[in-house]
Amino acid sequence: MLLALLPLLFLAVTVSADAKSLIVPLTRKATGSLQGLAKQERLRFGGKAYSPARRAVPAKYSLWAFYATIGIGSPVSAVNYDLVIDTGSANTWVGAGKTYKQTSTSEATGSKVHVSWADNTLYMTGKEYIDMVNITSDLVIKYQAIGVASDTAGFHGYDGVLGLGPVSLTDGTTSGKHEIPTVTDTLFKEGTISANTVSLALAPATNGGSITFGAVDGSLYVGNLTWAPITSTYPANGYWGLDASIAYGGRTLLNSVGAIDTGSSFIHFPTDVFNKYRSATGAVLDSATSLLRVTSAQYDALQPLDFVIAGQTFSLTANGQIWPRSLNTAIGGTTSKIYLVVTDSGKTSGKGLDIIFGLSFLERFFTAYDTAAGRIGLAQTTFTNATTN
Ligand SMILES: *[C@@H]1O[C@H](CO)[C@@H](O)[C@H](O)[C@H]1NC(C)=O
Ligand SMILES: *[C@@H]1O[C@H](CO)[C@@H](O)[C@H](O)[C@H]1NC(C)=O
Ligand SMILES: *[C@@H]1O[C@H](CO)[C@@H](O)[C@H](O)[C@H]1NC(C)=O
Repeated sequence: MLLALLPLLFLAVTVSADAKSLIVPLTRKATGSLQGLAKQERLRFGGKAYSPARRAVPAKYSLWAFYATIGIGSPVSAVNYDLVIDTGSANTWVGAGKTYKQTSTSEATGSKVHVSWADNTLYMTGKEYIDMVNITSDLVIKYQAIGVASDTAGFHGYDGVLGLGPVSLTDGTTSGKHEIPTVTDTLFKEGTISANTVSLALAPATNGGSITFGAVDGSLYVGNLTWAPITSTYPANGYWGLDASIAYGGRTLLNSVGAIDTGSSFIHFPTDVFNKYRSATGAVLDSATSLLRVTSAQYDALQPLDFVIAGQTFSLTANGQIWPRSLNTAIGGTTSKIYLVVTDSGKTSGKGLDIIFGLSFLERFFTAYDTAAGRIGLAQTTFTNATTN
């Protein structure tokens, strides 16, 4: 979430109509106050805080994340844990909230686990176990390596993480091991799903979403799915990273690379590109929320914000560029004001990972992650042009 620290560098599944796919419902919750959310993400991403911000960041990070409730342990005595969905890391672990309960299927491997994110404001440290993981009653993993945290930071209100990132992100996380198979890898290896593929269909604001394991379900998107290869540019190539260009109102602002991160609420641009977007929209930086703010006249004049990926344009409407108004006060803003979801990463462009495609993007587009073919699929959904944000 906000991209696990990249340990090292690092791959065609065409899903047939009869592929076995299984859908897991997701819900979303705010864990505690969301005030300072934009500041927190900026710090996590490693950018410098706006001057007063560093002091103002609360010790306990709050997250505004999608999560799934997942059972771990033997069927008779499994415990359910609320795990944050993270495409920016690949280890699955518990113990941030609820304590791990060992059952007859739990087996300690003797290895230590440490996963950290961005500037280490988020981390987990603990021990590795093999256990039975019950994602749904049809998606049961017999032998999954999981981390069991003895110490964590930043996961207040959740029990841990369901890691959906590329397996290379697990390299270096577990003592004595190279890579730790992800839950998707293990579902595939155990024959529960017929393709090592996972996809996400998320909805804006307080609506839910779903993960599909093992196939790309055409009923979850509208029109055609565009496949883009994972970028070759370091360090974005260690994540679900894409070559993408950004245009606003038809004018190109950047040709670069980005990574998909369900652990980020916003869409992060490098400072130079953020400044171009800010002047093009006429927005001002709002000190209460650390987000850009526009007047209603400026909102009415917002142009499409285009992401060009594999030759296709994925366009955020005006409504797709604003923070859900129902959540204005939650982030420390005012009900009547209009805040934008593009934020400043605090870095200049050209560093090999310029754009973070956070939830504000993913709520509007369906995404699929195909490990065997090393590619990411994107498509429009019924929410792409929604005006109910
Ligand atoms: C998995 O969880 C579901 C829902 O809690 C439960 O009905 C089912 O028995 C569990 N199956 C296994 C094998 O743990
Ligand atoms: C979708 O793909 C098909 C087959 O390539 C093509 O004929 C059709 O025009 C595409 N539709 C859209 C909306 O791009
Ligand atoms: C969204 O709006 C754009 C621009 O009008 C249009 O091309 C696209 O087909 C729409 N998408 C959906 C899913 O309705």
